[in-house]
Amino acid sequence: MLFNDFDKNHFSDELYRKLTSLIYDRTGLFFGENSRFFLEKRVELRITALNLRNLDEYVRYLMFDSDSEKEWDSLITTITTNETYFMREERQLKCFKEDILPEIAKKRAGSKIRIWSAGCSSGEEPYTIAILVKESKCVPEHYVEILATDINSRVINKAKEGIYGESSFRSVNEAFKARWFISEGNQKWRIKDEVKARVTFQRFNLFELDRYALLGNFDVIFCRNVIIYFDMDAKVKVVERFFDKLHDGGYLLLGHSESLISVTEKFKLIHLPSDLVYRKE
Ligand SMILES: C[S@@+](CC[C@H](N)C(=O)[O-])C[C@H]1O[C@@H](n2cnc3c(N)ncnc32)[C@H](O)[C@@H]1O
Repeated sequence: MLFNDFDKNHFSDELYRKLTSLIYDRTGLFFGENSRFFLEKRVELRITALNLRNLDEYVRYLMFDSDSEKEWDSLITTITTNETYFMREERQLKCFKEDILPEIAKKRAGSKIRIWSAGCSSGEEPYTIAILVKESKCVPEHYVEILATDINSRVINKAKEGIYGESSFRSVNEAFKARWFISEGNQKWRIKDEVKARVTFQRFNLFELDRYALLGNFDVIFCRNVIIYFDMDAKVKVVERFFDKLHDGGYLLLGHSESLISVTEKFKLIHLPSDLVYRKE
């Protein structure tokens, strides 16, 4: 037992590099030396759960075991950062509601508007989008399709369930909660069906580059606080796909700490009344 514990905790540089490169090739997620402690702790949990002896066995399991797909799912669930909340980055959301949505509604004039929340985590972002569409009234809500995707199947299931605790409401007031949620007791709140019905959730890995063809085209892509975890090469590949997936005049909304500097010059940074956003010209 003592020996197993020692083995499990001893990740050689070579094996650590092998593990991070396997993770990168599959997900685009970049784990450098700064993330080593975090990743080792998470992977130790997986080694224990599978009753394996060490990282060497775990890496082989990921590569060759007949159950490896299931393990990839569990590993991704433990190593992704899923921090999110309703009405995150309010200025940008105001821009979406007051500037972008009316412009697209006018342009589309009666045909479907498609919005993608890419890296939606547990659903707070796409449900916020659905609420803003409802509040805006510039377009009948059934003309707007919202697709929400994430690589992590656990958060997708949570999003489909639609029940949230206090931390998801950190930047909204009680009136927002009362209007769009039903109390479940125990400080849990369930999203109302009228909002839930507007969002389709699906598991999708942004780094599976040949699968974008299945998605169709979009008017707006929200990909906020996701590519921050990718290296430059992965950012370039994913953002190029977003460009291809957007209609001309479509918008890419990134998190406020993210930018396309050194990633691509294809998008134009434009100044709308409420915020700066990227547009496909
Ligand atoms: C910090 S959360 C951001 C959630 C939301 N967009 C927001 O800004 O509040 C990042 C999400 O990106 C997802 N993610 C990371 N890599 C991904 C990939 N390769 N494909 C799809 N989703 C990914 C994670 O699972 C996580 O839920």
